[in-house]
Amino acid sequence: MSGSERVAPKRLHVITWGCQMNVYDSRRMADVLAPLGYVPVAAADNADMVILNTCHIRDRAAEKVFSELGRLRLLKAARAASGGRMILAVAGCVAQAEGAEILARAPFVDIVLGPQTYHRLPEMVARAAAKGDVAGGDIGAGPGAIIETDFPPEQKFDFLPEASAPQGLSAFLTIQEGCDKFCSFCVVPYTRGAEMSRPAASVLAEARKLVGQGAREIVLLGQNVNAWHGAGVSTGAGAWQGAAPDRGSWGLGRLLRAMAEIPGVVRLRYTTSHPGDMDDDLIAAHSDLPMLMPFLHLPVQSGSDRVLTAMHRRHSASDYLRLVERLRAARPDLALSSDFIVGHPGETDADFADTLALVRAVGFAQAFSFKYSPRPGTPAAGAPGQVPEAEKDRRLHELQAVLREQQARFNAGCVGLTLPVLFTGAGRHPGQIVGRSPFLQPVHVTGSASLIGSEVPVHIAAAHTNSLAGTTLVGTAPAGTSPAATPIEERACA
Ligand code: 5AD
Ligand code: SF4
Repeated sequence: MSGSERVAPKRLHVITWGCQMNVYDSRRMADVLAPLGYVPVAAADNADMVILNTCHIRDRAAEKVFSELGRLRLLKAARAASGGRMILAVAGCVAQAEGAEILARAPFVDIVLGPQTYHRLPEMVARAAAKGDVAGGDIGAGPGAIIETDFPPEQKFDFLPEASAPQGLSAFLTIQEGCDKFCSFCVVPYTRGAEMSRPAASVLAEARKLVGQGAREIVLLGQNVNAWHGAGVSTGAGAWQGAAPDRGSWGLGRLLRAMAEIPGVVRLRYTTSHPGDMDDDLIAAHSDLPMLMPFLHLPVQSGSDRVLTAMHRRHSASDYLRLVERLRAARPDLALSSDFIVGHPGETDADFADTLALVRAVGFAQAFSFKYSPRPGTPAAGAPGQVPEAEKDRRLHELQAVLREQQARFNAGCVGLTLPVLFTGAGRHPGQIVGRSPFLQPVHVTGSASLIGSEVPVHIAAAHTNSLAGTTLVGTAPAGTSPAATPIEERACA
């Protein structure tokens, strides 16, 4: 676009709930709207457009959205009263699952769009703008609101703009979306749709662009990221750049190896994985690629085979334990994280005891745990044997106590070690900088801001509940040298 065609800037405020994939989607929505002149701003007041990017995975998600919409209704009215216009859009999984209800309860919403249609935002915004607010400066969009929640035949990734705002030192990159696993409790297969993988060439091109913009760590994202199976590209340095002919289908291990060859990439991570999709090549990548960080989020959900069957997880507790053994054989310092659900329909005290036993057998560096929450339309929501809320509370409390203790032990085990830390920003206190250990723990040190962007050895001196503190072994990053080249201990914290 030439300078003379430049459009007047408009203020865009995006509120994001949920997982990293929503964070990625929010950024990409901003990218899609940038050519229309939309510039992200930090507050909704006086915004020309507000997008709520929503999450539907557990309960009360929709209620949070409606409560936020109540607040925005007033801001939208204030903007209309001063002669302006605020376009209000609800995106993401709540929009996908409850689009009609949103418009019924909040008729002042202009646009409802699902996660697969946001490449069409410019057209939706144009339609909303043409329609205008209803007569009299009211704040309603009402019956004319735009709703785009079908799964379109085209892939949004083929239509997203090349240009994107820089993401910083650690960048998310969605490579896979949707899920075909249909776990009994989960809405994802319904809200995000069938599993789809982006082709390797497109992923590698985006990774190169991110690195060009300053990213040093790339986090590959997918609802079921290790099910990624993309059209491959010809091998050899840079061969993928020219959209070289398809070289068959690659798995995630192969993609990670290609990512590791991109100059400037210092760290790689991927999340979230299903135990059933950890193939041999991916496990081997943990041994072969030092830049693949020794931290894996591998949800098991339960330690009871009865519950795992009811959940339709397609793996047993012993399958999971065997897999952990193989992963640790490939990468002895691998730290593990998981998701757990307590109180799935039919879960007994004995089943819950099996979960605690699995937790003790694995030893997690961190984990997320949730009370089962019935999601409308999923098989478990109508299953017999719903567990009373008070019992779910009790089990969650007990599980979290064990997980907290494991996390504290893991963090305490890091004290005295020297770990490479990729510094990403200023800390909360003056003179402090913060980064991440290989095991994803935030690490605070007093040090020069010139270290931000470098991976630097840090002597770990103290462990807190969720973070570490230490001292850097280099004052500033020496010009032309990589601090990461300093020998660094490689061993697990606990
Ligand atoms: N109830 C509770 N937790 C759930 N999760 C997914 N669906 C539900 C539900 N209905 C949890 C799972 C999943 C994580 C992202 O959220 O543990 O791995
Ligand atoms: Fe949901 Fe994950 Fe199961 Fe897919 S594998 S249905 S995303 S819990």
